Amino acid sequence: MATITSLRKALVCILLLLLLFCLPFLSLSEYYLPINPRLEKAYVALQAWKHAITADPKNLTLDWCGPHVCNYTGVFCAPAPDDRHELTVAAVDLNHGRIAGTLPEDLGLLSDLALLHLNSNRFHGGLPEAFERLQLLYELDVSNNRLQGPFPAVVLHLPLLKYLDIRFNRFRGEVPRRVFDLRLDALFLNDNQFAFSLPDSIGNSSLSVLVVANNRISGCFPRSITDTADTLNELILLNASITSCIPEDIGKLKNLTVFDVSFNNIVGPLPNSIGEMRKLEQLNVAHNNLSGDIPESICELPRLKNFTYAYNYFCGEPERCLKIRRSDDRENCIPERPHQRSEEECIAFSSKPVHCDSNGCTAPPPPPVHH
Ligand SMILES: *[C@@H]1O[C@H](CO)[C@@H](O)[C@H](O)[C@H]1NC(C)=O
Ligand SMILES: *[C@@H]1O[C@H](CO)[C@@H](O)[C@H](O)[C@H]1NC(C)=O
Ligand SMILES: *[C@@H]1O[C@H](CO)[C@@H](O)[C@H](O)[C@H]1NC(C)=O
Ligand SMILES: *[C@@H]1O[C@H](CO)[C@@H](O)[C@H](O)[C@H]1NC(C)=O
Ligand SMILES: *[C@@H]1O[C@H](CO)[C@@H](O)[C@H](O)[C@H]1NC(C)=O
Ligand SMILES: *[C@@H]1O[C@H](CO)[C@@H](O)[C@H](O)[C@H]1NC(C)=O
Ligand SMILES: *[C@@H]1O[C@H](CO)[C@@H](O)[C@H](O)[C@H]1NC(C)=O
Repeated sequence: MATITSLRKALVCILLLLLLFCLPFLSLSEYYLPINPRLEKAYVALQAWKHAITADPKNLTLDWCGPHVCNYTGVFCAPAPDDRHELTVAAVDLNHGRIAGTLPEDLGLLSDLALLHLNSNRFHGGLPEAFERLQLLYELDVSNNRLQGPFPAVVLHLPLLKYLDIRFNRFRGEVPRRVFDLRLDALFLNDNQFAFSLPDSIGNSSLSVLVVANNRISGCFPRSITDTADTLNELILLNASITSCIPEDIGKLKNLTVFDVSFNNIVGPLPNSIGEMRKLEQLNVAHNNLSGDIPESICELPRLKNFTYAYNYFCGEPERCLKIRRSDDRENCIPERPHQRSEEECIAFSSKPVHCDSNGCTAPPPPPVHH
């Protein structure tokens, strides 16, 4: 018994000694962790943000306490680009957080931020003007929030921005033409309440993905879009109030893999030149007023997997088109095919002339207005 008790005593002593030695050591090491001026500014920014948050159902910001911002959930630090010896906040990712609140001006203090991912939250208001100070911002994803007001023009001041995703918000009004002068790789504007026209300068853009769906762009099909041929891979203009014809030379977009202009009021034929888009995989022209025959060259495209042209007024389709893995030709005027429009409907439509140019789409663009 005696030996066991003394053994215990000895163990307790060792533990106490260990604690006495280690505790101050631990806290000291924490105390001396380098908190540089960049991280101090980030601390101010993130605390201000935390105060602007009204609900955080997943507790993502629960650990946003104390000066060690690099340890905060969703905050990522990296050596500063202009000083590899200093840590700085390089990314914030709170995707799918369902966080409610606003984005305060103090966020401009995160001046080394390269990535800001806030998709699927409930932020409202606009983007802070102070985002202008995020000169290194490369990816900005605020999609699927409740942001409102005019287009967040502050993004026009971000020279390195490559990826801009503001889809599924409540932005409204014009989209400034200068957006297309940014060296963007991907632009998602869909599912807002924008009403604008795609400017000619779109031909100067470096976009590989452009999604404008579920907004209102003026009736014209942007003709200069063909000038983006070197970069454009995905063009999604569905449900965007387009009423003109598809430009005859659209096939210049030879790198396109996805082309979707469904749910517009596009008239005229489907241009033969689409048969030159050798990389095309998904083609959707459904729910328009297209007419004429489907060009065989389109249905022979080697990678075409899914061709939807339902709800138009096409009157002929080559056999080849029915062999595509997925195709949909319902509600057209194609003889001998099931689920077509009535003969009366087809005759009534074909008796009306087609106006490719009903909105003056082929006319030269008006000179820029200076205010
Ligand atoms: C968040 O924290 C609160 C209070 O600490 C707790 O009641 C709640 O269950 C937590 N929610 C989640 C999703 O962890
Ligand atoms: C940061 O988090 C790590 C892991 O949770 C922890 O070991 C470390 O002590 C924390 N540092 C600070 C300064 O809070
Ligand atoms: C395209 O860029 C060139 C060179 O930067 C410029 O001269 C031209 O005006 C631009 N075109 C449009 C339509 O913006
Ligand atoms: C088209 O967009 C409008 C909003 O601009 C929306 O209300 C409507 O449901 C959309 N239609 C389709 C077919 O997606
Ligand atoms: C298509 O992409 C390739 C590289 O992926 C590029 O070399 C070419 O210039 C692009 N444009 C056209 C029109 O093929
Ligand atoms: C499209 O066709 C429908 C049905 O004929 C017609 O009501 C509508 O005005 C047409 N739209 C255009 C832009 O031609
Ligand atoms: C084919 O395209 C249509 C229209 O874009 C789409 O609804 C459908 O999901 C696509 N099917 C496949 C298998 O990709």
